[in-house]
Amino acid sequence: MEFYEVIRKRRAVRKYKPDQVPEDALYRILDAANWAPSGMNSQSWEFVVVSGAKVKAMGESLAGIYAPLAENMDADKRGPYMDNIRNFFGAPVVIVALAPKQDKDVDRKMHLEGVCAAFENLLLAACAEGLGSCWMTGPIQEEAFLRELLSIGDDKEIVAVTPIGYPQFIPKAPPRLDPDLKQKVTWVK
Ligand SMILES: Cc1cc2nc3c(=O)[nH]c(=O)nc-3n(C[C@H](O)[C@H](O)[C@H](O)COP(=O)(O)O)c2cc1C
Repeated sequence: MEFYEVIRKRRAVRKYKPDQVPEDALYRILDAANWAPSGMNSQSWEFVVVSGAKVKAMGESLAGIYAPLAENMDADKRGPYMDNIRNFFGAPVVIVALAPKQDKDVDRKMHLEGVCAAFENLLLAACAEGLGSCWMTGPIQEEAFLRELLSIGDDKEIVAVTPIGYPQFIPKAPPRLDPDLKQKVTWVK
């Protein structure tokens, strides 16, 4: 897929086929992440690749977080909606991005930005592979649970989480708020 096509085609996918993702495809998207820029070339990102029963456990945790959002839904829609969340959208793999914990704000910002650059590389590479993803910070609301489940030490900050799998449903692209870049860009000449 052409580069700009990948950028436009990547969507937040929240429904996946049960098909397994080949390990070589996972390796390629993690390798793409590993080629991101980073402050002082720290390359400080780390990734936890989760599959099997622990994805299910993460889905149960996610259901607890999302339940209040589903309260106002019609009863017939709420069940399937919550089932999908409880299964972590049916994704066979979940990837968790970590940064080294920092005391100083300036250092924390630098490391977080590097990890986010790597994470976006990963999401774009997933799209190029025909895989879906969804950048998520919601699961971090259950931070203590994630740390325990995935043995993440206190010296690491949990930055973001994404399901990875073959999309069962790709949502429509949300329109750009400023498609002609009239408000969002200031040209200083
Ligand atoms: C920092 C960040 C946090 C996000 N957290 C969540 C989340 O917790 N749950 C979720 O379903 N989507 C989450 N999203 C996905 C956004 O909802 C999605 O990117 C946005 O609606 C635009 O859709 P698109 O990604 O298909 O362009 C997050 C995205 C970003 C960048």
